[in-house]
Amino acid sequence: MKKLMALGLLSASLTGYMWWNFIFAPVQANWTQNQRQLLDSLSLTKLPDLPVDPSNNVADLEEAAELGHLLYFDSRLSGNSSVSCASCHRPELMFTDGLPLAVGTDVGTRHTPSLVGIAYSPWFYWDGRKDSQWAQALSPLEARHEHNTDRLQAARLIAEEEIYLNRYSALFGKLPPFPLAPLSATPTGDEAQKSAWSSLSPTQKESINVVFANIGKALAAYQRKLLPGRSRFDEYIDNIPETNITESELLTASEIAGLTIFIEDGECVTCHNGPLLTNHEFHNTGVLAITGQLPSMGRYDGIRIARKDPFNCLSKYSDADDRDCMELRFARDSNELVGAQKTPTLRNIADTAPYMHGGQISTLDEVISHYNEAPPSMLSHNEAKPLGLRPIQIQQLKAFLLTLSAPLTTDPKWLTPPPID
Ligand code: HEC
Ligand code: HEC
Repeated sequence: MKKLMALGLLSASLTGYMWWNFIFAPVQANWTQNQRQLLDSLSLTKLPDLPVDPSNNVADLEEAAELGHLLYFDSRLSGNSSVSCASCHRPELMFTDGLPLAVGTDVGTRHTPSLVGIAYSPWFYWDGRKDSQWAQALSPLEARHEHNTDRLQAARLIAEEEIYLNRYSALFGKLPPFPLAPLSATPTGDEAQKSAWSSLSPTQKESINVVFANIGKALAAYQRKLLPGRSRFDEYIDNIPETNITESELLTASEIAGLTIFIEDGECVTCHNGPLLTNHEFHNTGVLAITGQLPSMGRYDGIRIARKDPFNCLSKYSDADDRDCMELRFARDSNELVGAQKTPTLRNIADTAPYMHGGQISTLDEVISHYNEAPPSMLSHNEAKPLGLRPIQIQQLKAFLLTLSAPLTTDPKWLTPPPID
């Protein structure tokens, strides 16, 4: 045995970790019953139907998705007529933009997340400051660095563009009256916009807010179409071999080793679980603050903002009964949420670099090294513990993450701008 050890050490120092692994790492012959159950729960076949959204009556209407599709790609919904939702959530990049920080009419403060499978999320934004997809869609329209338009101009586009007016009326009924001037008005804008807003009557403000909320509801209906497709990983776990887990035609030995690390030593599956590989919860994983910004308070602030949002589930613009708004009414709130961000999906992760809420980490190798070291958090504490993975294991874990890519199951007609008829 001593001789073998010496041989092992020698070959380890000569050829890296490969031999050392091969000789001394316990070789697991097959998945255990528990592991099989866990793997099974990650399969896309276990993805339930889309959750209903009681706050949005048109969420599942095809006509609403069609209106949302038009709006999603329409750059007239921006201050400089050049920014649409699709400028940042680009279909060809799995609805991300490839940039560390998003750029609309100006450089923003956060990294653009993917929208694939987003309708399964109970909360929106990295810090979960929105409780519905339609209410989320309203924020970028008025954000100075994103679309930089306002609710009156958005409502006016519906009133003045025939395609929109017809589709809008068919879905939501007759457009309520509101003035076509002043040009720009919103309670959230600059001094001129705020003062234009306060010059409107309560009925006019109400009408504009209703149209604005309905724009969000149509955009949400469209985004419900964006769903992930079956990857090589799904093929593998739907056909888990009865014997010998190290060999499969569907995944390589290295990818399977990476999958084992994902569910065992790496503990990734504690947060990245379920068919979308996210628990939809908020966690502090010790990611460095974004350069030039204070560390993010994350979900701690996010839940407070969601409760005060004039378009939340309990608001008059929501179609839900108060008792349908359980998530908002009973959301967890504690100091533990300081610095916590929403766990992102890992589906198509190879296509959505850079990573994290500020795009702070450029590559998957660096993401895994980050988890391996688990540095202390700048605010509160890092929930993840150092892993002590060896370089080869980091490569295996990465190889596994690359198996999660697949074209969307979405009908391709939703992935390009709609034809204008
Ligand atoms: C300038 C780039 C940009 C534009 C334009 C933009 N977004 Fe985003 N989007 C982002 C960024 C950045 C975030 C994350 C912001 C945050 O969490 O604070 C985000 C977050 C989201 C989220 C939440 C995702 C999640 O994981 O919680 C949704 C949904 C979304 N955007 C949809 C839209 C829609 C619909 C539009 C058009 C009305 C739009 N976005 C326009 C950059 C953009
Ligand atoms: C404690 C919960 C938790 C654990 C454990 C965890 N993650 Fe994460 N993961 C998160 C959260 C939260 C984020 C977003 C953090 C941020 O943006 O600051 C994230 C982000 C990521 C991202 C970037 C996704 C993107 O779109 O930007 C990748 C890749 C990732 N994790 C992989 C892993 C791997 C691999 C493991 C195991 C080694 C792991 N995670 C363990 C919660 C966790």
